[in-house]
Amino acid sequence: MSFWRDRKVVVTGGAGFLGTPLVGLLESRKASVFVPRSRDFDLREKSAVEKLLQQEKPSLVFHLAASCGGIAANMKNPGKFFYDNAAMGINLIETARQYQSKFQVPNFKLVIVGTICAYPKFTPVPFREEEFWNGYPEETNAPYGLAKKMMLVQAQAYRKQYGLNAIYVLPVNLYGPGDNFDLEHSHVIAALVRKMVEARRAGLPLVEVWGTGKISREFLYVNDCAEALVLAAEKYDGPEPVNLGAGREITVRELAELICGATGYQGRLEWNSSKPDGQPRRCLDTSRASELFGFTARISLEEGIRKTVEWFEAHHCSEAPAR
Ligand SMILES: NC(=O)c1ccc[n+]([C@@H]2O[C@H](COP(=O)([O-])OP(=O)(O)OC[C@H]3O[C@@H](n4cnc5c(N)ncnc54)[C@H](OP(=O)(O)O)[C@@H]3O)[C@@H](O)[C@H]2O)c1
Repeated sequence: MSFWRDRKVVVTGGAGFLGTPLVGLLESRKASVFVPRSRDFDLREKSAVEKLLQQEKPSLVFHLAASCGGIAANMKNPGKFFYDNAAMGINLIETARQYQSKFQVPNFKLVIVGTICAYPKFTPVPFREEEFWNGYPEETNAPYGLAKKMMLVQAQAYRKQYGLNAIYVLPVNLYGPGDNFDLEHSHVIAALVRKMVEARRAGLPLVEVWGTGKISREFLYVNDCAEALVLAAEKYDGPEPVNLGAGREITVRELAELICGATGYQGRLEWNSSKPDGQPRRCLDTSRASELFGFTARISLEEGIRKTVEWFEAHHCSEAPAR
């Protein structure tokens, strides 16, 4: 509690899916939190980042802001996702260095959120941080993943040359209440929850699911991830990237069955194998986060999906089935 009380904290992307529970946790610990919205601070512009830091004078910055989405959004926006994420990262880390050198803020720290999409396409499971540089990412999310990966290079270089305390964490796929359920942008759990709830409401006999269902994924409940960020900020000050996950691998087919059960959808699932699967397998080795800052995920996938379905049912009342 004393770490956070009255600490000035900036959370970029703090109004987003992960940012919302993170800001809630920080405020419950009495931090003084500022969330820059993109309409006021476009972080792709260095002048906006300068204005942000000079105006708020934080001693800790969480960098969550990103242009991101599921596989469809990545296929549609490879250029935008590369440019936005690279520009925001470069500007933020460089401006943080200048700000720290000018104002000499005691114990200034930057917590940078990377992504599992930066891992090589064929990383042995479970993904260990040591494998991070051993290959090119899966093609559909490589522009996004690599733009975010450059923030690790910059953070390590700045730590070495300027002593900037920037740490870098790598969350696996997130899910939970408040997720983006727009099918153009959604990740797999949000998309399946929406499709199945709407199909059940409309009495549709089948739901189309992208891919073969044979690939595997791991998921971290969004509030668990927010808790991991808080712990990392409090306890970790090293240069090495740290995985944030729940450590459970599940095939998309098994996942779809779980979501069928949770939504009460009783129709058939039609697997559309003409659509891309994405990376063949994903599951993180989560031991480093446990050793370095004591993080272990608390919410099981079953419980998390149940909460996500409840949230969707309460917030999206449309009777129209998703296309
Ligand atoms: N969701 C996942 O499964 C997942 C998995 C691994 C890692 N991550 C990472 O976790 C972080 C948060 O993801 P999320 O799912 O919470 O994303 P999100 O809901 O899309 O939120 C992203 C936020 O970034 C802000 N933003 C975007 N462009 C900006 C710009 N040019 N200037 C200033 N702010 C900008 C937006 O602010 P406004 O609302 O003000 O426009 C938005 O609230 C991202 O770094 C993402 O890469 C996410």
